[in-house]
Amino acid sequence: MSDAGSDSDLELLLDYLRRGRGFDFTGYKRSSLSRRIERRMQTVGMDNYLSYRDYLEVVPAEFTNLFNTILINVTSFYRDPPVWNYVAEEVLPRLLAQLQADEPLRIWSAGCASGEEAYTLAMLGAEQLGMEQFRERVKIYATDIDEEALIHARAASYAAKAVDNVPPELLERYFERNGQGTYVFSKELRRTAIFGRHDLIQDAPISRVDLLLCRNTLMYLNADTQTHILARFSFALRKRGYLLLGKAELLPAHSNLFTPVDLKWRVFRAVPQRTLGERLMVSAGTAGQGTADAAGSGERLREAAVEASPEGQLVVDAAGHLVLANAKARMLFSLGVDDVGKLFQDLEISYRPVELRSRIQQAYAERHPSAVCEVEWPGPNGEVAYLEVQVTPLFDDTQALLGASVSFANVTLSRRFQHELEHANRGLEDAYEELQSTNEELETTNEELQSTNEELETMNEELQATNEELQALNQVLSQRTTELNQMNALLESIWASVGRAVVVLDTELRVMVWNHRSQDLWGLRPEEAQGQHFVNLDIGLPVERLLPAIRATIGGEDDHHATLVEATNRRGKTIHCQVTCSPLLGDDDEIHGVILLTEDEPRQGPESRP
Ligand SMILES: C[S@@+](CC[C@H](N)C(=O)[O-])C[C@H]1O[C@@H](n2cnc3c(N)ncnc32)[C@H](O)[C@@H]1O
Repeated sequence: MSDAGSDSDLELLLDYLRRGRGFDFTGYKRSSLSRRIERRMQTVGMDNYLSYRDYLEVVPAEFTNLFNTILINVTSFYRDPPVWNYVAEEVLPRLLAQLQADEPLRIWSAGCASGEEAYTLAMLGAEQLGMEQFRERVKIYATDIDEEALIHARAASYAAKAVDNVPPELLERYFERNGQGTYVFSKELRRTAIFGRHDLIQDAPISRVDLLLCRNTLMYLNADTQTHILARFSFALRKRGYLLLGKAELLPAHSNLFTPVDLKWRVFRAVPQRTLGERLMVSAGTAGQGTADAAGSGERLREAAVEASPEGQLVVDAAGHLVLANAKARMLFSLGVDDVGKLFQDLEISYRPVELRSRIQQAYAERHPSAVCEVEWPGPNGEVAYLEVQVTPLFDDTQALLGASVSFANVTLSRRFQHELEHANRGLEDAYEELQSTNEELETTNEELQSTNEELETMNEELQATNEELQALNQVLSQRTTELNQMNALLESIWASVGRAVVVLDTELRVMVWNHRSQDLWGLRPEEAQGQHFVNLDIGLPVERLLPAIRATIGGEDDHHATLVEATNRRGKTIHCQVTCSPLLGDDDEIHGVILLTEDEPRQGPESRP
């Protein structure tokens, strides 16, 4: 809440502007917006948002003044000169290299203010391409929301101070100096620039743009509005088009529409967005390949493979006899070759380490393999091993049951790895979470820094605008001072030419004017007399004799009263003077003092006459 009212009062005012005038400032940062509005309110003597809204309703002309205050048009030719070097040396050559020799180059200067940015670009382009090529191939679309700024831009006439930054040779080549000391931008190049009103928030973007400059404009807008406009910019730019922002501006975090080309100069490139069709084509291109058969070659080979398998394997026939136990199984469960052929249920392995008989029956019934995970089995050195036991029913080609295969895979190592992996994963997750929150903190700090930076830059521009206004005011004031000095000099010479002593007193009888003739007569210099009370002056004039006439004149009872008095001049000589009192009238016809005109050699007459 500011002195001018609550946040909601400000929102009411913004809503009024949007509905009443179609100007939507709701996407602008409140800090600088409220400062600008309050500045305008101060000028018209309104102390809160709501009374200012009423004022706008009564004085519609105030809308224009308000918009001119909110829309800060600070700009200049070659603003931030190093950026323009980069544009000339890197951006334009790369852009031209990726175009065909006769292909047009489309440039958009968004938020162009009074056109200096667009014309700077025109000069750079003309220098690179030559005037003729430039005129044929390049189009600069320069847009702004502010009609008045656009009128200035189209006129292309700039004060001498505004072209300070233009290198002298370019000033010579691309500007004409007219009679009033202003510089007018080249007519020929002006034709390549089209100025138009465009609201970045509401209007559709210009399309197929190769180079888009939007400098020192987004910083006035809040983060959501910036994101919304940047999405439009990505649509406006051609593949591999360039975007230039102002030096205090950055892309919002997570923006994947642009990639930085040079962060220092705020140059970005549009990231080509894949169409849906392209994305589908990419996924279709990864279709699977055929699998290779692992064919064995002959019964013996198969037997040898089973025997050498690192997994223990048993085979039981449909009648319940153990028909096969490979080397690993024999070693694991201390089976002898003579156990082969025995009834499986008679062997310890049928129930230890895990009950297998029922599982085999279940596999037969379900005609489906079943598995038991992590079965503990003490190894030869007392260490517990973990086995994964799988029971698979076996069928012939006609699907008649042949028996079952039971495999024992040692998963001790993988189990340990799994546990270690889980542990490591948990650690990683914790670390990731920490990293994530640090990252978020950093991003927030970064965003805060970014917005402080933008805020500083907007304040800087506001100050610059105020400075320009003050300079204009200063000029008016100094003109007034000159006029006043001339007027004073004129008055001085009038007082001097009157040939009489002139003294002007205010209503309190303090000396306001004391001319040179008075100095001659009474010996006091003007600077000694002015500001003193008339009665306190140490001069040879019998002031008290004049007081009745002076008071009567100030009281409006008398007019041009002449008093004859005997006085002593500065040389000690007695003189006769005639002192005439006249009222000092102001513009308002009120009496503001009295004028005393003293003639030291008066014509003879009565001592005192009205
Ligand atoms: C500070 S000037 C920047 C001029 C120039 N781009 C530069 O960097 O020197 C900002 C300009 O943005 C314009 N602007 C503000 N809001 C806008 C909007 N919604 N759409 C288009 N232009 C806008 C203002 O009128 C002003 O001329």
